[in-house]
Amino acid sequence: MKALVLAAGKGTRLRPLTHTLPKHLLPVGNKPILLHVLDYIVEAGIEDIGIVVSPDTEPHIREAIGEQRRGRASIEFIRQSEPGGLAHAVQIAEGFLDDSEFLMFLGDNLVQNGVKEFVEAFYVSACDASILLKEVDDPRPFGVADVDASGKVTRMLEKPKEPKSNLVVIGVYIFTSEIHKAIARTKPSWRGELEITDAMQSLLEMGKEIRSCVLPGWWLDIGSNQGLIEANRVVLDAYSERDIKGKALNSRIEGRVQVEEGARIVNSLVRGPAFIATDCQIVNSTIAPFTNIRAGTVVENSSVERSVILEACRIARVRSLTDSVIGRSSTLLGFGNDTGPEKVSVCLGDDSKIEMEC
Ligand code: G1P
Repeated sequence: MKALVLAAGKGTRLRPLTHTLPKHLLPVGNKPILLHVLDYIVEAGIEDIGIVVSPDTEPHIREAIGEQRRGRASIEFIRQSEPGGLAHAVQIAEGFLDDSEFLMFLGDNLVQNGVKEFVEAFYVSACDASILLKEVDDPRPFGVADVDASGKVTRMLEKPKEPKSNLVVIGVYIFTSEIHKAIARTKPSWRGELEITDAMQSLLEMGKEIRSCVLPGWWLDIGSNQGLIEANRVVLDAYSERDIKGKALNSRIEGRVQVEEGARIVNSLVRGPAFIATDCQIVNSTIAPFTNIRAGTVVENSSVERSVILEACRIARVRSLTDSVIGRSSTLLGFGNDTGPEKVSVCLGDDSKIEMEC
């Protein structure tokens, strides 16, 4: 089996961060979303991975992955020049996919416990496609599947106004080469995209069988800044382990905290789950749970909680920064007095500079 990871989307709902960084590279817990996805795929035993990128995302993603391998798997980049939909991405990847069966994974989605069991279940099922579904309260923004009592899919609809089921497609699919014939029969949707959901409906109309598995654990679709903060909370909670490689001086580090090589924690309190990357400096500060601080960031005389702070930032004299996302090389300075709001919550793009009363 091969794998196709889709990482061409613009991430408009995650602006301003995604003006300069693809959403797939935003960190969740100890690594970027895309690396979690690649590790799930490698763990499922797949060794040929194609990543669909756009001209905008390609240079960033190539740089972040560094080499064309991840574990035992080799990686090939496939360029989608125009955003044409998920089924269009499969079309342009046909040369890579050949007539193999393949796992397709949206590169901004995370699922609890990965996809090993889902892949193994497909091998024994002898069906033409398989999808992971999740029950949600409001299925209207998603692809929706009607399913019979045995898990067989009977109908698929993209973003229906009046959904008949609460089971939504979560961005993890397995296809045989039959999907290429189904895509060839599919017309663009109202949003001008070739939808994979419509292609799966064509597959059903061709008399093919689609099976489904309902995901018991969490599913994280990192579609917005709040979504990123929440995903970071869930992943830090699920995967953090205590591992202190950096130096702590006159400080208390409580619980599951990962402090990477070269980081220094001085006169501070860090409460896990939290991640502090290489070469960070935390001085006279409190880092409260669910905080993710990336490489080279400095936090001084401040308190930070439930936030994602990207690389090379400086945060100084901010009384309480909470539920925030801060882009790379940004500076956030408080006046260091007790005026202004007690808690501050912001979302800043790369290279921002803010001075405020807090
Ligand atoms: C896409 C798919 C949809 C699926 C969703 C999962 O939607 O078209 O079927 O439920 O991903 O995140 P989009 O993010 O393009 O609106």
